[in-house]
Amino acid sequence: MKEDFEGRTALVTGAASGIGFAIAKLFAAMGANVVMVDRNETTASEAKTKIEQEISHAQILTAICDVSRENDVKRTVQTTLERFQTLDILVNNAGLMVFKPLEDHTLEDWNKVLSVDLLGAFLFIREAFRIMKPGSAIVNISSVHAVETTPRVAAYAAAKAALVSLTHSASIEGKPKGIRANCILPGAVDTPMLWNNPNIKDGLEVINKSDVGKPEEIASVVAFLASPRASFVQGAAVSVDGGRLSHL
Ligand SMILES: NC(=O)c1ccc[n+]([C@@H]2O[C@H](COP(=O)([O-])OP(=O)(O)OC[C@H]3O[C@@H](n4cnc5c(N)ncnc54)[C@H](O)[C@@H]3O)[C@@H](O)[C@H]2O)c1
Repeated sequence: MKEDFEGRTALVTGAASGIGFAIAKLFAAMGANVVMVDRNETTASEAKTKIEQEISHAQILTAICDVSRENDVKRTVQTTLERFQTLDILVNNAGLMVFKPLEDHTLEDWNKVLSVDLLGAFLFIREAFRIMKPGSAIVNISSVHAVETTPRVAAYAAAKAALVSLTHSASIEGKPKGIRANCILPGAVDTPMLWNNPNIKDGLEVINKSDVGKPEEIASVVAFLASPRASFVQGAAVSVDGGRLSHL
């Protein structure tokens, strides 16, 4: 699989932590140039160092960018081109949640979640469409919440469902450009986001230990979807949840 990524450039948003970090690390290990995008400068720089310590040949650029800000996104894509000349793989992974009963959600809550989890992906896809060459790939990180959800996460569930829809649009309009767009619906994954989830702390959402995956188990599916081995996978929404969505 290494030959699929050597010399290619992969941009991963939310790459300083959890799933995004695992994706960035896997791409770096496989010889891709990696742009680690995050809004948190300290954790992004620590994450870059961590990967460089383990992978001596890693080619990593960190980009401090709030994915919900149009100018940040434009500048990040521009910097990527200046450093690596191409953008071949885009992974829209940055995301956040707000936990409140539906009647307590404010307009600000909705805007906060939608602007990062949905609009951020749109902004990067738009810039990518303008510069990506045929053979490029986009992978969006949605969630099982796109299809089944719990109480107190209405804005998040809606944003993740809309991200699946955006993936379909990107797949239809990307196909004539030679760009594939797919998304992954992770189940529970062992990251700070999972264990900070108040629904889990309160027991409102119960997760069996065997239903918790590792960030690396999402990263390997991202790598497959981003590789030419997935050349006929277009517009797919792939659940990577250890079978959680199949429970009765
Ligand atoms: N962990 C899970 O159980 C799980 C399950 C399903 C889906 N997901 C999705 O996977 C993705 C990654 O989640 P994670 O668990 O690794 O979370 P995490 O909280 O560990 O990491 C998220 C990263 O995104 C960054 N980020 C947040 N807002 C940003 C912004 N506006 N601009 C740039 N960066 C921003 C954060 O700084 C952080 O580094 C999210 O989209 C999440 O919704 C996670």
